[in-house]
Amino acid sequence: MKAIEIRNKYLNFFKSHGHSVIPSAPLIPENDPSVLFTTAGMQPLVPYLLGEKHPAGTRLTDYQKCVRTVDIEEVGDNRHLTYFEMLGNWSLGDYFKEESIKMSFDFLTKELQIPVEKLSVTCFAGDGDCPRDEVSAKCWKEVGIPVDRIYFYGKDDNWWIAGEEGPCGPDTEMFYDTGKPACGDNCQPSCDCGKYVEIWNNVFMEYFKDNKGNYSKLEQKNVDTGLGLERMAMLLQGKETPFDTELFEPVMKKLEELQKLDDIQSRRIIAEHLRSSMMIVCDGGRPSNIDRGYVLRRLIRRMIRHMNKLQINLEEISKLIELNVENLKEMYPDLEKNKETIKAVILEEKNKFVKTLTHGEKEFNKEMMKLKEQDKDVVDGQVVFRLYDTYGFPPEVTKELAEENGLKVDMKKFDELFKTHQEKSRLGSEAKFKGGLADQNEKTISYHTATHLLHQALRTILGEHVKQSGSNITEERLRFDFTHPQKMTKEEIQQVEDLVNEQIKRDLTVTCEEMSYEEAKASGAIGLFTDKYGDRVKVYTIGDFSKEICGGPHVTHTGDMGTFKIKKEESSSSGIRRIKAILIKE
Ligand code: SER
Repeated sequence: MKAIEIRNKYLNFFKSHGHSVIPSAPLIPENDPSVLFTTAGMQPLVPYLLGEKHPAGTRLTDYQKCVRTVDIEEVGDNRHLTYFEMLGNWSLGDYFKEESIKMSFDFLTKELQIPVEKLSVTCFAGDGDCPRDEVSAKCWKEVGIPVDRIYFYGKDDNWWIAGEEGPCGPDTEMFYDTGKPACGDNCQPSCDCGKYVEIWNNVFMEYFKDNKGNYSKLEQKNVDTGLGLERMAMLLQGKETPFDTELFEPVMKKLEELQKLDDIQSRRIIAEHLRSSMMIVCDGGRPSNIDRGYVLRRLIRRMIRHMNKLQINLEEISKLIELNVENLKEMYPDLEKNKETIKAVILEEKNKFVKTLTHGEKEFNKEMMKLKEQDKDVVDGQVVFRLYDTYGFPPEVTKELAEENGLKVDMKKFDELFKTHQEKSRLGSEAKFKGGLADQNEKTISYHTATHLLHQALRTILGEHVKQSGSNITEERLRFDFTHPQKMTKEEIQQVEDLVNEQIKRDLTVTCEEMSYEEAKASGAIGLFTDKYGDRVKVYTIGDFSKEICGGPHVTHTGDMGTFKIKKEESSSSGIRRIKAILIKE
């Protein structure tokens, strides 16, 4: 059965069981700074799992485009993919374990015609947070899974949460027996030998885990399921890897024709990264040096490195994209619509990378010679960073090249240097924002002071991790971007607002002092520690409440600034929140 048939059967099956078919959300999450890409079907549905009403009802089904990036380095083996499609069905306070299990069983055995003998299932064994899931086990028994193929495991295997906090709960997983020989007497679904492959995961979401690790009961009980399409296609077609299915086969074949050297891993990496990059670009992603842009850049660049390894002419990329569009357009019609953009973006990145590679490889070779002369076998993190910083040479390429040459790499040191570098460039762009107070009058000056009050209030209420990452002021409002990993709650917004208004009412005096940048830092002033200001900086102090390095100007007293009101709190980009606020004058 082809992947698209599995998808259609799935959606139709759940439609016939009262589910509304909803569209896949984009790969790039619209309002979730906590992740780079959509990584599961439940992710765009989090507000509804938490109790908000979904316009399409309480039974939903969809196919969701997903990218998981933790496994980039693993791609090339016989199973890891960065892009994949997840089929899912949800109950939002509607059915629970019994009906969910019954539907899964029927879909697998009747629609996909998987013989019952091939199925095993696992349930949650219970712990201090949540009891043993006897209910699920009983349901499985009732539909026809023999008890000796019902396994119980702990949180590591049978508990689902996206990341560290959020809606979560015990899950029950379905496994397909590939028919391979057991690896030993104790061979079971939890082992990695390849006999059992997980095909579907039904999460019974009853809990919410907060950022302190506490569990509370959700108001509504939900079901969230996920079935990996590529894997299911592979199993139903009796193939060894997803790369042998019709999803990848045309590109894999073409690569075999084009290659001058043979390496199956490299072919898989090229085929996989090509598909992922195309899907990401199609949903609006663009290569860059940070966050999701950097993931995309890595995917494209890793693909090119492996094309070079197989000595495939890079001019072929364009044709490979066309081939993939043809092959996948029935599943993803947007690929065809955006074909020209996809080509343009990937080819531009290729051109940049070719230049980078030429320079970087030369430099890498020099470094390698040095190491050999000194009889050393570890590439210093500083070297990895210099190659990255000066030549744009990707650290993972340095690592791969080093490993190919039998060398180790100090990536820990590199990571440290990289972090400092990112912080500096972020502050650099903040400085640009900060300079932008060209139009200064009474109103904008008040907003400027309000921005300082807001910055400090956010740090007091949310914590010291809050740092300004952008600011923009007009006569009508202030806009303030800051680092914070999640949406602010209504209470937090209220507290921040109250704290700012309290300072306004206290009619605090605003003073300005000039001092050296070092002194400013030592005095505990917050602000942009860049060299933008030169040796001497101005530090504005608002009563006992705020102290910040800043060019000014500011009001002299906070008393008549007006009433501070937060109009909007939203995501600006990954890990960055944005507040728009106004001052209301009587
Ligand atoms: N959220 C669960 C998973 O990703 C089920 O969809 O496996």
